[in-house]
Amino acid sequence: MTDENTQTPDRRAIGVFDSGVGGLTVLHECLVNLPHEDFIYLGDTGNFPYGPKSLAEVRRLAFAAAARLASEDVKLIVVACNSAAAAALPQLQSSFATPIVGVVMPGARAAVQATRERRVGLLATEATVRSNAYQNALHTLDAGLEVFAIAAPRLAPLIQGGDVFSEEIEGAAREAVAPLKAAGVDTVILGCTHYPLISPMLRRLLGPHVSLINSAEETAREVAEILARKEIDNDREREGRYRFLTTGDAEEFRDVGARFLQLPIREVEQT
Ligand code: DGL
Repeated sequence: MTDENTQTPDRRAIGVFDSGVGGLTVLHECLVNLPHEDFIYLGDTGNFPYGPKSLAEVRRLAFAAAARLASEDVKLIVVACNSAAAAALPQLQSSFATPIVGVVMPGARAAVQATRERRVGLLATEATVRSNAYQNALHTLDAGLEVFAIAAPRLAPLIQGGDVFSEEIEGAAREAVAPLKAAGVDTVILGCTHYPLISPMLRRLLGPHVSLINSAEETAREVAEILARKEIDNDREREGRYRFLTTGDAEEFRDVGARFLQLPIREVEQT
């Protein structure tokens, strides 16, 4: 490995995309853990939500998003959308020269490490559950694991829509976790990048003995490791910049997005 002091910094940005604003929870973790890196985030808000769409359609949209980021000469692409990663990650990795990281494997790995009873629940969109990507990743890591996958189609649109403390969201969350409670899982993967916004509510509904796996945190850790191993870090002394592209309305992205990012959103370009 090259000495950290003599390594030439790789000044290219890291590209991140999601079907909308949910992936900003992943970007948030990346900005906290890698404050010296530049980021370009693409929110495909014009096509939100991906969850109810066919896997072929999600794959088509994921290709368009990855191609847009590749056109910015990014050094790494993070698929910060479980539905897109579940439907398209291997195909994206085979088609693009840029290294591409998804949110599924980091979340699966953390769940396998966390579970004591080897009973893991997954809360995700219909597309993610239908793809079997988490189920396959979990069984690749531990073939003896019991996996209970629950699609929660109402949650992401409600969370994106605004008030995350509403009774409507609590009702939808209660309904989604009921089969997981009945199955007696000890670990639940938040398999959608919108869900970290309601993790206090989910924690209360599931009880204190259930570990919640936030794939945003796990993915940020993986991004940091890849940069270090490939020696493509930027200069650690600098403060990085971040900017946004959206396929939807720029003003709406700015308003809704700040809640997910928990940092100011300035530059938003419609693409
Ligand atoms: N952000 C997406 C995910 O992580 C969910 C929202 C959608 O349905 O597009 O799966």
